[in-house]
Amino acid sequence: MNILILGSGGREHALAWKLVQSSRCSRLFIAPGNAGTTRCGVNVDLNPLDFEGIKKFCIQEGIGMVVVGPEEPLVRGIVDFFAADPDGQKILVIGPSAGGARLEGSKAFSKKFMARHSIPTATYREFSAADLAEGISYLQQHSLPVVLKADGLAAGKGVVICQSTIEAVAEFELMLQGNKFGEAGSKVVVEEFLTGIELSVFVLTDGKHFVTLPEAKDYKRVGENDTGPNTGGMGAVSPVPFADAGFMKKVTDRIIIPTVRGIEAENIDYKGFIFIGVIKVGEDPFVIEYNCRMGDPETEVVMPRLTNDLVELFLAVGDQTLDKQTIGQEERIACTIVAVSGGYPGAYEKGVTITGLDRLPAGTGDSLVFHAGTRAENDEVLTNGGRVLCVTSFAETVYEAVDKSRDVLEKIYYDGIYYRRDIGYEFL
Ligand code: AMP
Ligand code: GLY
Repeated sequence: MNILILGSGGREHALAWKLVQSSRCSRLFIAPGNAGTTRCGVNVDLNPLDFEGIKKFCIQEGIGMVVVGPEEPLVRGIVDFFAADPDGQKILVIGPSAGGARLEGSKAFSKKFMARHSIPTATYREFSAADLAEGISYLQQHSLPVVLKADGLAAGKGVVICQSTIEAVAEFELMLQGNKFGEAGSKVVVEEFLTGIELSVFVLTDGKHFVTLPEAKDYKRVGENDTGPNTGGMGAVSPVPFADAGFMKKVTDRIIIPTVRGIEAENIDYKGFIFIGVIKVGEDPFVIEYNCRMGDPETEVVMPRLTNDLVELFLAVGDQTLDKQTIGQEERIACTIVAVSGGYPGAYEKGVTITGLDRLPAGTGDSLVFHAGTRAENDEVLTNGGRVLCVTSFAETVYEAVDKSRDVLEKIYYDGIYYRRDIGYEFL
């Protein structure tokens, strides 16, 4: 089968690396891909939001499966677009319909969904500009800290945790009246702050059944010891030591099963990943958020640990036979470290030459280098984004895995290179 992956980050490189290992994968294309994905398949110069162009390409190349990496094409309805087209219908698109992608695309929708299906989450209220005054008085009585969430997609920046009522009211007004997040902030969810430790839980569903993939923990802050501003993710580890069998059973019973049943009961067309941001409060799991895709950089540890043939799993999603599949996991620990551009997550330069990639030994032992923001030009690899490279390593302990990834990163150089050396620090 010929397969097309949409997206260009480390997540997509890890998906490409995994898919191309399947004997069922004939030709692999990545649109638009990066300098790393060319090692797994052919990059195609297409925008993942150009649905018409993607469909044309699929027909021309005989693509049987499209795997959607990022959320935006899903929220904008790529699955519905293919389903509405006589040629498109023949292609299996991995991802939810726009209705299902609202679990990520609308915080208000996802909170109501959780309420309907009794899924544990922070208590909340939803407000729009019409009930600004009511919202302000609600905030004035709310405990601190309080969490404000812009309803729509806001490039990962729509959540603000406020330590004081004054800050909360100002932020609330900025979102609803000042258009801080544009249309995404036309509704705001105000919710209780939960104190605990977070992990990322990954489910693949065919709309009726599901399998749970290895869980992971990501490190969002730019600085060591989790300091400084939030980023797209600076590293990840899998498995997560505190996610033991007892805790994961609670996650399955209280969160995953009701979520998949809810999707089925509400007739939501959902054939893809559900990424559940979970927080462990005391001994109990609560949902922080849903995403309708895999996480990045979590995919860079989850895919290497998954021992199943991913094409087979996706075909089972298409046939709604996921109940016949069993997930296999590499027992060793995987850790990924993300190397970013100098200045990230603030302003940074692109087009900086990366050297040392060719100095890595073949296969680099227990390590894998996934490209994120890179592009190839002539014979050079250049930086092309904030997150540049992800180095994943396997070991028996977090300490060794991190150490191996750092060793690989020490051989790579570009002006401004920065990475956290303490990924997994709380598990050492
Ligand atoms: P999100 O953009 O939904 O991923 O939220 C960003 C981050 O805000 C999450 O990863 C959490 O660390 C934090 N967060 C969101 N909601 C809450 C909450 N109710 N309580 C505590 N932290 C939260
Ligand atoms: N690593 C978090 C995300 O992909 O949203």
